[in-house]
Amino acid sequence: MPDKIQKIKGTNDILPGEIEQWHALEATIHMVMERFTYREIRPPIFERTELFARGVGEDSDIVSKEMYTFSDTSGNSITLRPELTASVVRSYIQNNLQQEAPVQKLWYEGPMFRQERPQKGRYRQFWQFGIEAIGSPHPEQDVEVIALFHAILVELGISDHAELRINSIGDTKSRDAYREALRKYLLPHLQDLSAASRQRYDTNPLRILDSKAENDREIIRNAPRIAEFLNEDSTNHYAAVLSTLRDMEIPFTQDDLMVRGLDYYTHTTFEFSSDALGAQDAICGGGRYDNLIEQLGGASVPAIGWASGIERLLLVMESLKEVESRSSLDVYLVLAGDALRSKSQKLLKVWRAAGLNCDADTLRRSLKAQMREANRRNSRYAAILGEDEFAQQEIQMKDLETGEQKTIALDGVCDFLDSAD
Ligand code: HAM
Repeated sequence: MPDKIQKIKGTNDILPGEIEQWHALEATIHMVMERFTYREIRPPIFERTELFARGVGEDSDIVSKEMYTFSDTSGNSITLRPELTASVVRSYIQNNLQQEAPVQKLWYEGPMFRQERPQKGRYRQFWQFGIEAIGSPHPEQDVEVIALFHAILVELGISDHAELRINSIGDTKSRDAYREALRKYLLPHLQDLSAASRQRYDTNPLRILDSKAENDREIIRNAPRIAEFLNEDSTNHYAAVLSTLRDMEIPFTQDDLMVRGLDYYTHTTFEFSSDALGAQDAICGGGRYDNLIEQLGGASVPAIGWASGIERLLLVMESLKEVESRSSLDVYLVLAGDALRSKSQKLLKVWRAAGLNCDADTLRRSLKAQMREANRRNSRYAAILGEDEFAQQEIQMKDLETGEQKTIALDGVCDFLDSAD
């Protein structure tokens, strides 16, 4: 017997039975995006490696350790996208989207690829949906993107189980000053830091702030805080974001140690996490990236966005029992008599054209087995057709919940279901 081929570690088959929850979540996402007038964009799944190296940052974990990169037959270095902000920005520049509207409000959904150590809620192919609002430098834009994710949580019924943490890492000048102060503070502690943090001391000392190593955390406790280094513009921007959030009654906590793992952020950064998850509790992360568009060859245009992990949101909903698994099958056609086999597909064609979700047996099973199947599939009705009924142009409709059975005209099935609604 040939070996069975297994899926790659960290990838998931989304099976029938699970996909219904994805569809319900997607319907909510579409509805809220429409309310906020965001429009969908679908960039390609692979891009030139350079886009992510320059966009996300050479020193980030994503670029330095986690990308799926390969050479194509022309020798180009290609990468499966680990995130979509860089791709959206590339597309925005390449398609001159700033000429179409001064503020572009875009959303997306699709699989991302990161070679991380798989565990519950952390996969190598995972799905994100997200938004990018490109064009406005003002705090009300920051608040709008945060309010959009909050609105999705409210629609999904899980907003009470999500916490918003927010921080400002200021503009480039403020951050440069802070980086120097942080290095100065950390220097005498260098040999006590973990190996990973020691490495980051030169490349990106701010990342040391979100180290999980206990000794690192102890050292960080007394480190200078970024808030002390924000210049006036950055301070005012951040204060306006916080006061508007308060005004809108969107709860948050300030976390001045939160540094996001991607290099493009400026000013506001934020994360939503959920107490219904384990170690991988971040359900959404984002922030402002006012320099990225220029860094990738476009004009100097400010922007802000976030992305959310779909598998993680579904884990939250599952643990809170917010997912309902309702059958979508209206009618299961049950044939009593072999002579009627040739009629079933024609009947189903008429019902489906009228908008009913219906199905029938294709294995030529017994009447009893067909009834069992109708129940197993959780159909609302079994439509039972015998030769006598067919001769009379009638059919029996059995309500599978109440057991009640009625004989109706064969061409009256759609009306019958309409009136039963
Ligand atoms: P990120 O924080 O790297 O940000 O990812 C956003 C979200 O994607 C996380 O909060 C988490 O829910 C989900 N996620 C990340 N990695 C995994 C994984 N290995 N398995 C399952 N879920 C995962 C970004 O990607 C930025 N592009 C967000 C952004 C948009 N910033 C500005 N605009």
